[in-house]
Amino acid sequence: MPTPVLYCRDALNPRRVDEHFALEAGEVRALGGAVGLIDHDALLQGDAQLAVAHVPAGLGNVWYRGWMIPSDRYAALAEALRRRGAELIVTPEQYRTAHELPGWHATFAGITPASVWRPTTPGEMPTSDDLAALAEPLLPGAGIVKDYVKSRKHDWEQACFIPDLADTVQLTRVVQRFVELQEEFLTGGIVLRAFETFSRLESVAAEVRVWWLDGEPRLLTPHPDGPFGRGLVPDLDHVAPAVRRLACRFVTTDMALRSDGAWRVVEVGDGQVSDLHQSSSQGELAALLVGP
Ligand SMILES: Nc1ncnc2c1ncn2[C@@H]1O[C@H](COP(=O)(O)OP(=O)(O)O)[C@@H](O)[C@H]1O
Ligand SMILES: [Mg+2]
Repeated sequence: MPTPVLYCRDALNPRRVDEHFALEAGEVRALGGAVGLIDHDALLQGDAQLAVAHVPAGLGNVWYRGWMIPSDRYAALAEALRRRGAELIVTPEQYRTAHELPGWHATFAGITPASVWRPTTPGEMPTSDDLAALAEPLLPGAGIVKDYVKSRKHDWEQACFIPDLADTVQLTRVVQRFVELQEEFLTGGIVLRAFETFSRLESVAAEVRVWWLDGEPRLLTPHPDGPFGRGLVPDLDHVAPAVRRLACRFVTTDMALRSDGAWRVVEVGDGQVSDLHQSSSQGELAALLVGP
């Protein structure tokens, strides 16, 4: 039986798949997979039951593919779907593990930049004392700040890159700006990571996104934010054991080539909410999900 896939519906055209995912959903249908629609807005506003109101009853095991979902809302989605006879293949615990840095970091220790974190609520300003203590294990060197899920890489100078983690004034300025700009979207808490020098193509980091299904690297795509990256084939021998230890069925790893030639895991993600570069084959991804 082809595995059904749930996509986010289009806000303006509720019977259609959100246009960002429409091509991929079309490929799922072409492979014989059922496509269900969920209302992502309703889910994030707290109404999981309304979010799944148009999912056909009794779908059985399903994948989700769409916009990111906060981990607690994913758990609510799983529960609401269960009441309609559908079971998310990725459990809420597995989703949180792959989606949030504290969930996956220890499993990837040694092949991803060293990191520290502390939980915060949106808008809560960490003090310079808190931040100096937090940064201590990463000294000396530069760093970056992000939350459990996202950075503000497009505000690199003011809210992402920290040239010297030992400079508490600078550290505090960048982190506080990050907290301010994230507003209510700050997820989980503050993460500081040791900065590593990655090779760049046309000033954009040359990252490759690897899509793993059941511990096997099944698809390599350029990073969604980069212009290319194709032709770069990362060495994955050191990564596969970590992905298998994570024990999540469908994950992505974003790989970057460090200046010393080592392929590093910059970020792990749940494959269901990882963006696919527009030049990539939606058909290949759909085939992975729908199954043989
Ligand atoms: N530890 C690091 N050292 C050097 N560059 C980094 C580091 N962490 C992130 N970056 C750069 O910042 C970008 C965004 O970081 P990432 O963790 O992928 O956050 P996001 O979830 O916003 O994509 C990465 O694509 C990479 O170019
Ligand atoms: Mg990233």
